[in-house]
Amino acid sequence: MLENRILNKALKSKVMSAESACEFIKPNMVVATSGFTPSGYPKAVPLALAEKIKKTGEEYHLTLITGASVGDELDGALARAGAIARRFPYQTNNEIRKQINSGKIKYQDMHLSHVPQWMSSGYFGKINIAIVEACLITEEGGIVPTTSIGITPQAIAEADMVIIEINTTQPLELVGCHDIYMTDLPPNRKPIPLLNPGDRIGTYYIPCDPSKIVAIVECAIPDKMRSLGETDEDSEKISKHIIKFFDCEVEAGRLPENLLPLQSGVGSVANAVLGGLIKSKYKDLTCFTEVIQDSMLDLIDAGKVKMASGTSFTPSDIGLKRLLENIEHYSKYCILRPQEISNNPILARQLGVISINTAIEIDIYGHVNSTMIMGSKMMNGIGGSGDFTRNSYISIFTTVSTAKNGLISSIVPMVSHVDHTEHDVQVVITEQGIADLRGLSPKERAEAIIQNCAHPDYREKLSDYFERASLEVQGHEPHILGEALSWHDKFLKTGSMK
Ligand code: COA
Repeated sequence: MLENRILNKALKSKVMSAESACEFIKPNMVVATSGFTPSGYPKAVPLALAEKIKKTGEEYHLTLITGASVGDELDGALARAGAIARRFPYQTNNEIRKQINSGKIKYQDMHLSHVPQWMSSGYFGKINIAIVEACLITEEGGIVPTTSIGITPQAIAEADMVIIEINTTQPLELVGCHDIYMTDLPPNRKPIPLLNPGDRIGTYYIPCDPSKIVAIVECAIPDKMRSLGETDEDSEKISKHIIKFFDCEVEAGRLPENLLPLQSGVGSVANAVLGGLIKSKYKDLTCFTEVIQDSMLDLIDAGKVKMASGTSFTPSDIGLKRLLENIEHYSKYCILRPQEISNNPILARQLGVISINTAIEIDIYGHVNSTMIMGSKMMNGIGGSGDFTRNSYISIFTTVSTAKNGLISSIVPMVSHVDHTEHDVQVVITEQGIADLRGLSPKERAEAIIQNCAHPDYREKLSDYFERASLEVQGHEPHILGEALSWHDKFLKTGSMK
């Protein structure tokens, strides 16, 4: 019931329909919302706004800032209504992706840790309105978020007006899962007193000046989570290689018996990679990551994880039911933090995070493309992968060695776009094997990546390229530029790199 979720009596007068609330959103506004992966994003108000635009034909050119990707009720509905002019900092929606690649939406793909600071510094311009999903409003007017936090604290702090969507499908037991801590801008910024992934350093609610709240809307639409693919053979092989790598590091005394805080990316492969730890010898694990996926729930149930810190619960549709029905149990092991903290580069370095992220393609010298298909088409964005990779204790990238049913090699002479440079990428793992790049010169890296990680169908071709480049061009990191740059052309022209 909505009544039980608004404890501040004065705010009850702000309850209204989504249709009335969307009247506060004007055509050229900068809008910041809750939501991180399809979790905890507002749904009723964006849907009402999209409907209004369809009916009235009014032109909207909104700048939309979110924590990361959000669900179709926000990104998809507003994009289909033609209402988004600018989008920051990450997305996974088909319609948004289409409009980004056609040039209709101006998109800046950003490190997620930068977003809160950019909001507070005014780099995005004035935030006119925040639309945030909440579980509860406290007596003092504090906002308790739902299944994610992302940029919500900064959205509330920086916006002139705040619309709250109270989502009654989100259990009240979520109260207490969150730890809200915000930093000041330089030169007043202080060290963040977080020494362990499980430390609580803030409040369970986001402070909010009640006079900013212009509308409170009831929403009964659940988060629309993506389903996760079955763990396939390649993901299992990658997971086994990662565990083998950990075993060697522990044996060499470079990692403790319970490893170091793990960060793992999003999606089926990332989920499978973490899931592989269930059968391993490792226990008392901690995670300092962005997203808490299904495999984390499995690891908790298997007694393997002591504490998981993230900024969103991102289980599958089935996992969400399991999480919410057993939230009292899982909340003992999970803390949600603002993305300013979950993705904080200082904390990744301080805690010694082991980062494991997925690449689209990796080149023979260790540069990684995470975002751009064939160098031109935006897939999703860099997300938090750069925040962690650059600052982790050990940075790992995984990919299946081929894409498009083997027609394309994910190991290439030169990546068609660079997101993570050779200076940041320490270990490359495919289903074929492990290339530990630490301490290797570029030429040694090329040999390790080609021999250990490339698919056998492409190994000879890559070796031939590397040998000719080394002979004909020489230099520290030799490339036959014309050939390296045209490597992808073969696929574009003939549909196969073979
Ligand atoms: N060349 C061309 N296309 C490729 C490719 C390659 N080397 N590798 C993958 N693709 C295509 C796939 O065919 C697929 O295309 P489709 O959508 O038309 O089917 C698409 O890219 C996605 O590939 P998929 O294998 O389904 O990848 P995924 O779901 O495991 O996601 C990333 C991989 C890299 C896109 C994803 O991890 C990502 O967005 N990463 C960046 C952000 C990030 O790391 N976030 C986590 C930080 S915490």
